[in-house]
Amino acid sequence: MAAPGKHQLGVLLSGRGSNFIAIADAIDQGRIPNTEIAVVISNLADAPGLTAARDRGLNAIAIEAKGRKRAEHDQEIISTLRAHQVDLVCLAGYMRLLSSGFIQAFPQRILNIHPSLLPAFPGLHAQQQAFDYGVKIAGCTVHFVDEELDHGVIILQRSVTVTEDDDPDSLSARILVEEHKAYAEAITRVTSGDYHIVGRRYLRK
Ligand code: GRF
Repeated sequence: MAAPGKHQLGVLLSGRGSNFIAIADAIDQGRIPNTEIAVVISNLADAPGLTAARDRGLNAIAIEAKGRKRAEHDQEIISTLRAHQVDLVCLAGYMRLLSSGFIQAFPQRILNIHPSLLPAFPGLHAQQQAFDYGVKIAGCTVHFVDEELDHGVIILQRSVTVTEDDDPDSLSARILVEEHKAYAEAITRVTSGDYHIVGRRYLRK
């Protein structure tokens, strides 16, 4: 049952779920006020993040995509989110593109985290792309999801310095530490409602 007056998060994931765990920890520690996780959904039944959600006593549901059209699969996810009264959707390593119907069902209420300083290095293996490009500053971005990949309005970014000793794994690990801080902070900002969007710019009131 949703606690009255609390924001209800729906988390979508496909993998290990470290960002989900960071969000859940931040809620438990009171760092994301007035918010609870209503449901965790994965397109993969064996996603470790789903097991982690179940272990925490959260609603954890697999909605597998195999053999189904994207719009139909997304519709089932939308219905499940609605059934749990979700008002903010957090993509946390969810490895599927959303249909436009999904995006329109939650306008400016879907967040994603991406392990690069967008608009640099959208798409897969962003940390490797940044490393190979030779950037000196890398990082992560939390943004609203729109119909283009890794493209919506940026809520916040956190940077890390690339050192000469780095390899893609060490760089990814340092970016991940920042991702965990960034996602909790972005959710806190968005649920506070204390912002407006001007063009592509997210501005705090
Ligand atoms: C993270 O690097 C996130 O930025 C990207 O997918 C990865 C998910 O990792 N979108 P985890 O499952 O949250 O550990």
